[in-house]
Amino acid sequence: MPAGFFTSESIYEEEWEKIFSRRWLCAGRASELQGRGDFRQCNLEGESILLVRDGEEKLHGFYNHCRHRGAKLCEDQSGHFGENIQCPYHAWTYSFNGRLSGAPNMAEVEGFRKSDYPLERIAMEVWEGFIFLNFGDKPEPFERTFAPVKDKFAQWRLPELQVAHRKSYPVGANWKLLFHNFSECYHCPTVHPRLNDITPYKNSSNDLKEGPILGGPMLIKPKGGSLTMSGRACGPLLAGRENRQKVYFYTFFPNLFLSLHPEYVVSHRLERQATGETLVHCDWLFHPEAMESPDFRLEEAVQFWDMTNRQDWHVCELTQKGLLSRKALPGPYAKLESMLAAFDREYLGVMGKRDQSRDQEQ
Ligand code: FES
Ligand SMILES: [Fe+2]
Repeated sequence: MPAGFFTSESIYEEEWEKIFSRRWLCAGRASELQGRGDFRQCNLEGESILLVRDGEEKLHGFYNHCRHRGAKLCEDQSGHFGENIQCPYHAWTYSFNGRLSGAPNMAEVEGFRKSDYPLERIAMEVWEGFIFLNFGDKPEPFERTFAPVKDKFAQWRLPELQVAHRKSYPVGANWKLLFHNFSECYHCPTVHPRLNDITPYKNSSNDLKEGPILGGPMLIKPKGGSLTMSGRACGPLLAGRENRQKVYFYTFFPNLFLSLHPEYVVSHRLERQATGETLVHCDWLFHPEAMESPDFRLEEAVQFWDMTNRQDWHVCELTQKGLLSRKALPGPYAKLESMLAAFDREYLGVMGKRDQSRDQEQ
């Protein structure tokens, strides 16, 4: 893809129209909202979305503003509402399902009906414990998008996993450069010597090779190994026997990466901030029983991925800087970059620019 795709403001805007306003975007874990009234703010594409768990153990997503004068309803990033959601301005009050339940002094306004002013809802689905939101009025059917991974990760018991650790990283690179980086291990010998000892870079294969979800397994060299500082598993295993010497890596277009290890799962959730800025939330997910085990050594996994993340963000930032040059023109794909090429095909198809990109290269 020509350099302009990573640096141009107009492409960034066009991506909102063609991708981010229509696709399912990951917004974190359902397990972060345990009880009735628990809430969390999620900031996606310049919108604050309020995620709330209501009395029927159901999750809702609302735009975080009041239907009266439009004040932002909730300032805290996360917490617990008592009995309802009350606007701090004139005290309009909403139930956890978004219905306007109280509007002081509005009864005297002719024609006013509370039922006409619920909170604005955003489409939401929960898949394997991950919350997905969709800004579209008629979202693409969720089941269709996620059909390639239906029941694929059952061994890892994803809905039961809890966030054992989270770290957020501001990265000075376009979101697509992070997808590129996660899509290949061509860079592993130079950028990640430790990772490359455990999963040598050529030991990779792919089982999802085209479309919005891409990736596959890599073989772990040390017996009983995993991606940890010691190279050994850091807790009781989740994966079945056939997957104990493997780690699976997948990208979910356009804002999630999953890494499934024998004993834990790491997710990277991307939030675009600007053309050359992306906020990445990295979660280390473990089973609650594993966290109680005497073999549980969270730090080993956290340190390993924190080190790997920083190594990756550095080269992504270098690439962003390089692409700002007037002479920047990316070269051909290596064989080891087949998933990166598949991502580009998917992206350019969605943007309606496959031919245009070919023309610019010639
Ligand atoms: S702006 Fe919310 S009650 Fe007036
Ligand atoms: Fe990497």
